[in-house]
Amino acid sequence: MELFFHAGGEDRWTAGVALVPIWENENILVTCADLAEAAPFLQIAPGMRDVSGRKGEISVVYGHKDLPYSRVMFIGMGEKCTEQRSVLEAIRTAFAKGVAKARALHLESAHIPFFSLKRLGDELVALEEAVYAANLANYSNSRFKKTTKDKMLPELQWLGIGFREEFVPDEARKAARKGERAAECVILARKLAMAPSNVLYPETFAEKAVILAQDSRLTVTIMDEHELEMKGFGAHLAVGSGGQHPPRLVVLEYAPKGHENDKPIVFVGKGITFDSGGLCLKPVAGMHMMKSDMTGAAATLSSILTLAEEEVPNRVIGVMALAENMPDGNAMRPGDVVEGLSGDTIEIVNTDAEGRLVLCDALAYVQQTWDARAIIDVATLTGACATALGDEVAGLFSNDDSLAEQVAAAGEKAGEYSWRLPLWEGYKTKLKSPVADICHTGFKRQGAAITAALFLKHFIKDNTPWAHLDIAGVDWCEKETALCSEGCSGFAARTLLELGRGDF
Ligand code: BES
Ligand code: MN
Ligand code: ZN
Repeated sequence: MELFFHAGGEDRWTAGVALVPIWENENILVTCADLAEAAPFLQIAPGMRDVSGRKGEISVVYGHKDLPYSRVMFIGMGEKCTEQRSVLEAIRTAFAKGVAKARALHLESAHIPFFSLKRLGDELVALEEAVYAANLANYSNSRFKKTTKDKMLPELQWLGIGFREEFVPDEARKAARKGERAAECVILARKLAMAPSNVLYPETFAEKAVILAQDSRLTVTIMDEHELEMKGFGAHLAVGSGGQHPPRLVVLEYAPKGHENDKPIVFVGKGITFDSGGLCLKPVAGMHMMKSDMTGAAATLSSILTLAEEEVPNRVIGVMALAENMPDGNAMRPGDVVEGLSGDTIEIVNTDAEGRLVLCDALAYVQQTWDARAIIDVATLTGACATALGDEVAGLFSNDDSLAEQVAAAGEKAGEYSWRLPLWEGYKTKLKSPVADICHTGFKRQGAAITAALFLKHFIKDNTPWAHLDIAGVDWCEKETALCSEGCSGFAARTLLELGRGDF
């Protein structure tokens, strides 16, 4: 969907429909006098009688078709709220529903009158979120539809932002572009996570990273199984040993001019392209969802690409630990002991706890290679986290209060919420192994999100600020919402993007 900026007033605005969110019982012609002037027919249009602003209500009000601005869609947001999070949610939901409705009407384009956003708080923030939501709602995943593709709703071709002023204000242009790029970032993460495991496996993920980074200022490094072996990534290799597709480590480095020697922020993503559980095979129900056990890596890749495209002035590095977790004669077995890159020996007791094994080597690698300002890992790590927090909020662990606050604040901006959970030191004893330096799981299900995080923490040097987002509960959207169709949510892509932008 192309984004256009139309200055010079309503006579120049040609889009199919104007999208105007409205609070319950709001008299829009009073609260937004500009709208009454731009579309005077609203003052007499009979359809206005039905506009109540109730949550979920959508009314399209028409003027004569030859008028320049003759179709206005009012999208009910319900009772007016003031809390920032609720307002942002209301704005995103409204514009997403508006675009869905415009698509259902088979329109070619939609329009956001900039002046109408003032009633919704900071108009630049509102614009950013409106464009973000509109773009997400315009996307449909048709990659693997073939014979039924033409039954899908058409996408809007363009979105116009209208200004009554003669010129488009610079900040408005910037805000809209930021929202647009955030949506592109999330959509790419969703596409990657949604790609089935027979198509996207470690090698093809790595190839994709190379192609996507081609025309950017990014340095791409790919380690194949031989290099991983030579370097000593014993834990990562153990996970990949059962797969027909060998493991990979992908590193994307972004160093803007003048910041080449800054301490980098490093994102680390779990990239299990399929998690069958390995020899400790998962049950059948829901196993197909394990194609998206690489959402952490997808979010890492897409956020770094977007940050490079935006040329943010921060040095950011992304590390994606890719492997397939499959049962096989060569697969790792419960009871095996492997030596990870850190030099620690690790006893494997449950082959389904594979995420932390690829991550512990990636974390060790990051600390051997860079003096990181902060390390943030993102992983669909534990069912226990999903049990604890459900499907709307991710688990956040950190050894650094200020970093934890930043990650949470970036998530707030992104609409990707997290809740801090404790790195309860007492549970470290659960990771004691009778045979190796450390065991990779506790033996019980209780507190398993915490023991997983503690296992990762074992590989973090004391003075490195580190945060871990467990997104196991939130990476999959079971029921379609305004902003996300059924399937992968791409959770954390925008959080990482906002962290890299650093201006949330
Ligand atoms: N990828 C799973 C976690 C997961 C579960 C993600 C549900 C998304 C939805 C992870 O590799 C896993 O299997 N974890 C085990 C750990 C256990 C064996 C200690 C789990 O949570 O059951
Ligand atoms: Mn698993
Ligand atoms: Zn997994």
